[in-house]
Amino acid sequence: MKRLDGKTALITGSARGIGFAFAEAYIGEGARVAIADIDIDRAREAAASLGPNAIAVKFDVTSQESIDAGVAETVSQFGQIDILINNAAIFTAAPITEIERADYQKVFDINVAGALFTMQAVARHMIERGIRGKIINMASQAGRRGEALVGVYCASKAAVISLTQSAGLNLIQHGINVNAIAPGVVDGEHWDGVDAFFAKYEGKAPGQKKREVGEAVPYGRMGRAEDLTGMAIFLASAEADYIVAQTYNVDGGNWMS
Ligand SMILES: NC(=O)c1ccc[n+]([C@@H]2O[C@H](COP(=O)([O-])OP(=O)(O)OC[C@H]3O[C@@H](n4cnc5c(N)ncnc54)[C@H](O)[C@@H]3O)[C@@H](O)[C@H]2O)c1
Repeated sequence: MKRLDGKTALITGSARGIGFAFAEAYIGEGARVAIADIDIDRAREAAASLGPNAIAVKFDVTSQESIDAGVAETVSQFGQIDILINNAAIFTAAPITEIERADYQKVFDINVAGALFTMQAVARHMIERGIRGKIINMASQAGRRGEALVGVYCASKAAVISLTQSAGLNLIQHGINVNAIAPGVVDGEHWDGVDAFFAKYEGKAPGQKKREVGEAVPYGRMGRAEDLTGMAIFLASAEADYIVAQTYNVDGGNWMS
């Protein structure tokens, strides 16, 4: 018996990176997974690489229409949704004096409103069907404290931690567990973009910031997407039924709370 046998999951932003690793790990545990991403071509490639238990679903977390259509499509293909991972997010960085309103708006639309309204749509479906589901939000160590150049992204991830607490308290009355994972620094395409911001604002050579953050992790290296899959499986499984409104750090020891 696998830990997610017979379960279905919708994972936003899972065409690549951490979300893709979650999809692969969930399928390995017996689940079926909707790769729900704005990049539909890459989502199709990702689903094809994972075999018949994965489907690609066009999903833009900034559009209510797209959220509703993506949830409906997943339900029509799989019958129901037992697990949601709110994983889609973007990163931005700038000194406080240079933050642009449009950039702030975009980050909050995706990272905060996107997570909230996807959670709402899936929670409504779960309540309607009496599904005692699991919702996992992707926070970050960035949500635990501010960073000089990362004000907007840090604030967006602090909001994710807060929403996880409120939604966790509100939805447990329906038997739906809402929790979050706060990764530290995880290697991948996302971090290539982060590195480029620091190269711009701190005058570092390309790759330098990434090397430095990796060396600073108590564990001794940057995280890999696979380092996070154990927590994602656990929080989606029946073993986590009594865990409510928590955010777990999976970061090699970077942050303690
Ligand atoms: N990589 C890290 O170091 C790190 C650290 C802490 C937290 N996180 C968080 O983990 C999660 C995954 O990070 P990652 O490194 O895999 O990111 P990534 O940038 O590699 O992947 C993000 C995915 O989200 C998709 N996406 C972007 N906008 C979207 C939208 N509007 N609707 C639907 N999908 C959209 C992208 O197409 C992409 O496939 C994010 O929430 C991120 O903030 C990452």
